[in-house]
Amino acid sequence: MTEHRPVKDTDATPVKATPTLPDAQTVTEVTHYTDRLFSFRCTRPASLRFRSGEFVMIGLMGDPHPETGKVKPLLRAYSIASPSWDEELEFYSIKVPDGPLTSKLQHIKSGDEIILRPKPVGTLVHDALLPGKRIWFFATGTGFAPFASLLREPQTYEDYDEIIITHTCREVGELTYGRDLIAALKDDELLNEVIGEGFWKKIKYYPTTTREESQKMGRITDLMRSGAAFDDLGVPPLNPEMDRAMICGNLAFNLELKDMLEAYGLVEGANSNPQHYVVEKAFLD
Ligand code: A2P
Repeated sequence: MTEHRPVKDTDATPVKATPTLPDAQTVTEVTHYTDRLFSFRCTRPASLRFRSGEFVMIGLMGDPHPETGKVKPLLRAYSIASPSWDEELEFYSIKVPDGPLTSKLQHIKSGDEIILRPKPVGTLVHDALLPGKRIWFFATGTGFAPFASLLREPQTYEDYDEIIITHTCREVGELTYGRDLIAALKDDELLNEVIGEGFWKKIKYYPTTTREESQKMGRITDLMRSGAAFDDLGVPPLNPEMDRAMICGNLAFNLELKDMLEAYGLVEGANSNPQHYVVEKAFLD
């Protein structure tokens, strides 16, 4: 796949005044990255409070039942990609041609409505980790989404001296959302003021591809096993005294990395029992 420039839906469709769906929110911006990936922003319910890294259920109304004509909401769990302080919400999604929700969701435009259940939950939160020196964010594909939130969250920089974000994708174009987001942190006046000038220097970004030529090829798991990732990043292998980690990717990746982190001596944490690492499955439908 050749690298695509993100295509923004900048259509200034007026925001609808009267929501017609239950828990409706209005889409404000849609950006397409590849034929498989897009992101969108929407209005945020005034009452919605969440912690950066959490997810909510979002969706659209399904097709009418062939016999009864009844329509039901079609909802899936989506990590909120925007930080907790943002006045809008952002989501990053895959497009699955025959996916019940994403086959429809990929066609949304500014001014359209989506359904958003305002009940945030999730384990990829700072509260689930003990204090540490360095935090690793491990993502594949759309698993980058919760880290898009946490990379814009001031607490990430207050809690850690170093933030390492690894992102493994099949093709180069699939890295665009994350790469552009990280590059934009440098010029983000608000974050530089709130967190401190040059906060972004704490980030080490490690993108890799597996099915298309790029600067760094290979699965992050293999690159860690060989030691190449640690050499490239200039850091020692993970240890439970210094390192904390959050994992979000496809199931096989999550399981493999979880085993590796356990072998380094890290213990899985939860909201009720903070430890060294936490894991969550990326939305794949
Ligand atoms: P690969 O191309 O070698 O399968 P997907 O798009 O299927 O969700 O995969 C996203 C990325 O995650 C791909 O680059 C894929 O590599 C990689 N991946 C899949 N399974 C694993 C795993 N068990 N460990 C590390 N990376 C994985």
